[in-house]
Amino acid sequence: MKICCIGAGYVGGPTMAMIAKQCPDIQVHVVDLNAKRIAAWNSDTLPVYEPGLDEVVREARGRNLQFSTSVDEAIAASDIIFISVNTPTKTFGMGAGRAANLEFIEKCARQIARVSHGHKIIVEKSTLPVRTAEAVGRILNSSDNEATFDVLSNPEFLAEGTAVQDLINPDRVLIGGESAQAIETLAGIYARWIPREKILTTNLWSSELSKLTANAFLAQRVSSINAISALCEATGADVDEVARAVGTDSRIGPKFLKASVGYGGSCFQKDILNLVYLCEHFGLREVAAYWEQVVSMNDFQKRRFGERIVKTLFNTVSDKHIAIWGWAFKKDTNDSRESAAIHVCRDLLREHARLFIYDPRVGEVQIREDLVHSFADASGHIHPAHQKLIDENVTIARDCHAAADGAHAIAVMTEWDEFKNLDVGKIYSNMLRPAFVFDGRNILDRKLYREIGFEIHTIGRS
Ligand code: UDX
Ligand code: UDX
Repeated sequence: MKICCIGAGYVGGPTMAMIAKQCPDIQVHVVDLNAKRIAAWNSDTLPVYEPGLDEVVREARGRNLQFSTSVDEAIAASDIIFISVNTPTKTFGMGAGRAANLEFIEKCARQIARVSHGHKIIVEKSTLPVRTAEAVGRILNSSDNEATFDVLSNPEFLAEGTAVQDLINPDRVLIGGESAQAIETLAGIYARWIPREKILTTNLWSSELSKLTANAFLAQRVSSINAISALCEATGADVDEVARAVGTDSRIGPKFLKASVGYGGSCFQKDILNLVYLCEHFGLREVAAYWEQVVSMNDFQKRRFGERIVKTLFNTVSDKHIAIWGWAFKKDTNDSRESAAIHVCRDLLREHARLFIYDPRVGEVQIREDLVHSFADASGHIHPAHQKLIDENVTIARDCHAAADGAHAIAVMTEWDEFKNLDVGKIYSNMLRPAFVFDGRNILDRKLYREIGFEIHTIGRS
C-alpha cells in the first residue's frame, strides 16, 4: 500500500512519520509546496521541534518515509491521500476574521482530481468546517477521468510538544465517513499499534464537528480558569489552589486547568472562530456569542498581563529594559503561532519598552517576523514608527541570564523547564532595583525569588 500526505507541517510531518515507523511495509510520501520545508525534513535539523521526533524520522526516512515537492507524482502513485494543509482564518471578504480559508483544501482537491486514476481514499486531516467533505467530494467526483474516490474525515488530536507520545498512545482515533470499506482500510493502518476500542467511527459531519468541539472545550477550560484567575487576584484566593480543589471533582478532572497568560497555538482561536462563524451561518446567534466569549476572555487575559506590568512598574515602561523569557506558545515546541508572548510584547513595545527576548527553540528571524505581523494591518503594511520600535527596541538574547542582565523586570511567557533551574541569586545581582518578575506561567519558585529580594507577580494570586 502507498500513502501520501499533502502538507508537511506540524500535523502532517509527525503523523506520517509515525505511520511510517509503525508500518514498515507501507510507503509513506509527504509532499509540500514549500521546498525549504521539505529540504529541512530531509536534513538533520527538522523544521518541527518535537521531543522524540528525530528518532522516529531517522528510523523510517529512506526506508519507507520520503519527503519531496513532487505533489502530482505522489498523488498519482498513492492509494490513500491525506490532506493536511493549513486552513487559516480568512483575512478578507466574507467571513473575514472568522471563517476558515478553504482555498488550499479546494486546490488540493482539484489537483487530486486532475492527476488521479483508479480508486483512492481521500482523508481530511486538516481541521475543517462541518460539511467540507461534501465540497471536497463534489470536486473530486466531477473530474472527467475514470478515477473514483471515498472521502474520510480523520482529524488529528495531537498536541504540540507531546506529539510523538500522543501519536503512539492517543486517547482515540476518530474516523468519519460513509464507506465502511474505506473506513476499515484506514482503521486497519491505525490498528497496527492502537487498540481497536480506541478507534471510533462516526458519520462525516460528526467527525468534522467533533474536532472543532474538542478544541473549543479545551480552550474553554483554559479561559474558564483564567477568568477565575482575575477574580483570585482581586480577592486574595490562589488560582492554583482553586484549580486543585475544583479538579479533584472526578466530573471536572484535573487536566487543562493551569491558569496562564493566555492560550496560544494555531488551533484554538482559529477553530473557535470557525465554530462561531458556523453558528452564525445557521442563525444560532446565542450559540455563536457563547463560544466567542472564550476568545474574548483569552484576549482579556493577554491584555491584562501587559497592563499589570506597566502599572506595577510605576505606570511607565518607556525606555525600561524588560527580559522576556519564552516565545513559543507552550514548552517543547518551536511553534510561536498565536503565542501570548507576541501580544504582550506588542503592547509593551507600544509603551516604548526595550525588550530582551530569549527562547530556547524559537529563533530571531521568527520572533521579528511575529512582531512585524502583530503590528501590520490586514494588507500586511506596518507603520514605519512600529518597524522602528521592532528594529531598535528588540534584542534577542542568548539565554535567560543575558536577557535579564541590567533589566528592570522579567516576564515569563512560556513554561520551559530550563527557566525553573536558574541561578536566581546571580540574576538578581545583575538587575536594577526594585527587581520585578511577572510569572505568566506560575512556574517559578515564588518563595525563593522573594527571599532573594525579587518582587514577584504571578497569575491568579494577589
Ligand atoms: C494544519 C492546520 O493548521 C490544522 O488546522 C490542521 O488540522 C492540520 O494542518 P499544521 O500542520 O500545524 O496544521 O500547519 P502548517 O505547519 O502550516 O502546515 C501546512 C503545510 O501545508 C505547510 O507546510 C504548507 O506549505 C503546506 N501546503 C499548504 C501545501 O503543501 N499546499 C497547499 O496548497 C497549502
Ligand atoms: C491543541 C489540542 O490540545 C489538540 O488536541 C489539537 O489537536 C490541537 O490544538 P496544541 O495547541 O498543540 O493542541 O497544545 P495544547 O496543549 O492544547 O495547548 C494550547 C494552549 O493552551 C497553549 O498555549 C498552552 O500553554 C495553553 N494551556 C493549556 C494553558 O494555558 N493552560 C492549560 O491548562 C492547558
